[in-house]
Amino acid sequence: MTATICGTGSYIPSYTMDNNDIARLVETSDEWIRERTGVIRRHIVKEETTVSMAAEASRRALEDAGMAPKEVDLILVSTISSNVILPCAACEVQKELGAVNATCFDLSAACTGFVLAYNTAAAYLAGGVYRTALVIGSESLSNLTNWKDRGTCILFGDGAGAAVLKADDTRKAALPVTHSDGGKGAALTCKSRHDFSGLADAGQSDPETMLDDEHYMQMDGQAVFKFAVKRVPEVIGEVLKLNQTGTEEIAYYILHQANKRIVEAVAKRLGEPMEKFPMNLQEYGNTSSASIPILLDEMNRDGRLKPGQKLVMAGFGAGLTWGAALVEWQR
Ligand code: COA
Repeated sequence: MTATICGTGSYIPSYTMDNNDIARLVETSDEWIRERTGVIRRHIVKEETTVSMAAEASRRALEDAGMAPKEVDLILVSTISSNVILPCAACEVQKELGAVNATCFDLSAACTGFVLAYNTAAAYLAGGVYRTALVIGSESLSNLTNWKDRGTCILFGDGAGAAVLKADDTRKAALPVTHSDGGKGAALTCKSRHDFSGLADAGQSDPETMLDDEHYMQMDGQAVFKFAVKRVPEVIGEVLKLNQTGTEEIAYYILHQANKRIVEAVAKRLGEPMEKFPMNLQEYGNTSSASIPILLDEMNRDGRLKPGQKLVMAGFGAGLTWGAALVEWQR
């Protein structure tokens, strides 16, 4: 038994900031950002929240799947930037949708989050625990971005993507490969805004005035870059070997959309043509766990995905975490 993706959806905020807008905030240029990252603009929340974007992406995915909210058994939201801690974002999405029969929880694994959420849902479905699942990646990274730090603020954007999964009794499950290395976590960090340990003793009580650089995303860009270009081709090789699948059988590698140069380096190391590596990071920047489902939804809707195609989804990021999943498109 395995899981099949039977619908996708996404939600992108309409407000955009292009590279020239960023150059008005920090010392940088459109040319530098395009050349080093491939990003041209990013979409930023105004009225939207992580939950509202997750709910809208889910509505669109359910519509695409032709499934009613009451048919959903499991809702899984991958996010590091939820506007709510309690209840969890997945329960809030359940309420918005009226998906009254679902079990709901969140998962936090940064830019590998969607792959891990997909694997988790697929394992539940393959194990017969649930029959249907809604897997969502939703991020409002602009709230965690230090808009004074040119090393990070050029990279990130906001948005949400969702996929509807249903159990498929006719096919065998493909196995994913995932890894974590907490020992190298210092490469990409963001301290919780609820951890003000030490500061309360200093007589400060207003969290807004207590935010410092550590409460925004901080990154050793070169360390993350080197990690990604080494580990992503490796894990893709591992998942292909484990499932006895050759690169010639793969139609598309759907990578986390962090940086054009990372995607190009992965393609080169795998010896695969760039046509197999779709990209939309130029429009959205790095939307962390939302990037893979947003790209998947674009490809589903524009007809690039065809029944029987094999896809590899690969995520990587803070933790450090990385992983890949083999998907057979059956929609
Ligand atoms: N605009 C202009 N100059 C900048 C800049 C910016 N936004 N950011 C850094 N620079 C400068 C640096 O100060 C440095 O100047 P110096 O040579 O005078 O000291 C120079 O550009 C090179 O800096 P460096 O940090 O080596 O740049 P880089 O080529 O590594 O590019 C990143 C920086 C962040 C774009 C790149 O490291 C990267 O993409 N890393 C991966 C990040 C990522 O994908 N993270 C998420 C993973 S999920």
